[in-house]
Amino acid sequence: MSAEHLDFSDLGRILVIVPTYNERDSLPVIIERIRTSVPGAHVLIADDNSPDGTGEIADAFAASDSQVQVMHRRSKDGLGAAYIAGFTWGLHNNFDVLVEMDADGSHQPEQLPRLLSALRDADLVLGSRWVAGGGTQNWSKGREVLSRGGNLYTRTMLGVPLHDATGGYRAFRADTLRGLDLHSVASQGYCFQVDLAWRAVQRGFTVTEVPITFVEREIGTSKMSRAIVAEALWRVTQWGVAKRVGQVKDALTGRRRSSEN
Ligand code: GDD
Ligand code: MN
Repeated sequence: MSAEHLDFSDLGRILVIVPTYNERDSLPVIIERIRTSVPGAHVLIADDNSPDGTGEIADAFAASDSQVQVMHRRSKDGLGAAYIAGFTWGLHNNFDVLVEMDADGSHQPEQLPRLLSALRDADLVLGSRWVAGGGTQNWSKGREVLSRGGNLYTRTMLGVPLHDATGGYRAFRADTLRGLDLHSVASQGYCFQVDLAWRAVQRGFTVTEVPITFVEREIGTSKMSRAIVAEALWRVTQWGVAKRVGQVKDALTGRRRSSEN
């Protein structure tokens, strides 16, 4: 993209939030790549007191670059909690666009202009692995099955017209986040992603998917766990059941109302 295409000042102030837990080797690379790809954007690292010293590395970047900030959190409380804290900070500090991006290079900062361009006509843009032009590189078959299966289950249970509701590369307008009642989000792990996408669809926001290539990390390890999968499964099931109960109630009260007339 040419320099003029990297000018997103019409969108306002942009904050890229990068949650970290033990990402000391990945973090320096991702910060440089974000700063080069969209030079106007600010970066907030939300570190959960990583034992490997990621927080101190983040501090060193912040000391030499006024567009980099660090949020030190007390303990590992999950991706959802880290993002809620990051969003709250970003909204409080008058950012207009808030971006979610993993620290490990799986979400390529070079594709951020694509998300931001799409945000000009949307309230929320999802980077999607499972639309035409999207995909994954070096991902294990097991992870791919989990992601495709999770998305199929989400689409079926919730009826959301999204192909990649579990992904974590996204751009929100500040007003979209303000409309999602962040204080009531209980999701702790990666199902936080489904939670927010589902809230946005339910509230009538325009959600657009753009293709991304998710590149599996070469350094460090994934924090995905059985507990994270279990939480996603029971929460999505719970939301799906609640939605159906609501539909049945609506149908019954609707019928009663029409028979009263
Ligand atoms: N602060 C904080 N606290 N950061 C966390 C935590 C936490 O408890 N758990 C994970 N992270 C950070 C990691 O350090 C990394 O920057 C990012 O969140 C993603 O974690 P990974 O462990 O690399 O995730 P993944 O590659 O297995 O999963 C990816 O795919 C999922 C399924 O599509 C991510 O993109 C997830 O967001 C996505 O839901
Ligand atoms: Mn990863």
